[in-house]
Amino acid sequence: MRKIERTLVIIKPDAVVRGLIGEIISRLEKKGLRIVGMKMIHIDRELAEKHYAEHKGKPFFEPLIDYVTKAPSVVMVVEGRYAISVVRKMAGATDPKDAEPGTIRGDYGLDVGDAIYNVIHASDSEESAKREIELYFKDEELHEYCKAAEWFYHSHWDKDKGEYLDSTRCLDV
Ligand SMILES: Nc1ncnc2c1ncn2[C@@H]1O[C@H](COP(=O)(O)OP(=O)(O)O)[C@@H](O)[C@H]1O
Ligand SMILES: [Mg+2]
Repeated sequence: MRKIERTLVIIKPDAVVRGLIGEIISRLEKKGLRIVGMKMIHIDRELAEKHYAEHKGKPFFEPLIDYVTKAPSVVMVVEGRYAISVVRKMAGATDPKDAEPGTIRGDYGLDVGDAIYNVIHASDSEESAKREIELYFKDEELHEYCKAAEWFYHSHWDKDKGEYLDSTRCLDV
């Protein structure tokens, strides 16, 4: 019922140059997810090839590498209840023309380059999330904290005592 997961999110170069960094971060924050790691990097060819190794040999592999190395990206580790599937749903279908309105790709993407330019990357499984987080972040670049309202979800109001119980519990990762 409460499975706390971490997932890798990348605000891809098309979104960075279009000025969408804030919009995307804002959606993740408002959903109730915690950003526990974040940095801007210009992904180089070596890193891009490692990240997208599963697509090596496919016709869109070279255009994909050119796309993600074309300008800086913002990479984030995002944490929360069922974060992996939740963020995939928020991202929407791979091709922004098929992505539902209300999703990030559905709301902010349409045109494509040689590869499908689609604003955001989000890990697709526990296994990929672990691999991708390790690829982009060192342990010491990830942080633990509670968002200000989280005490509310994980505490109980004791009517008799007139106080909150368990009010410090928010991170049972
Ligand atoms: N058929 C395609 N032609 C061009 N680019 C593609 C194609 N399929 C995927 N891509 C690009 O490669 C990335 C990785 O592909 P994939 O893992 O299938 O999608 P997703 O990012 O939704 O998990 C996509 O986000 C997109 O930028
Ligand atoms: Mg994928």
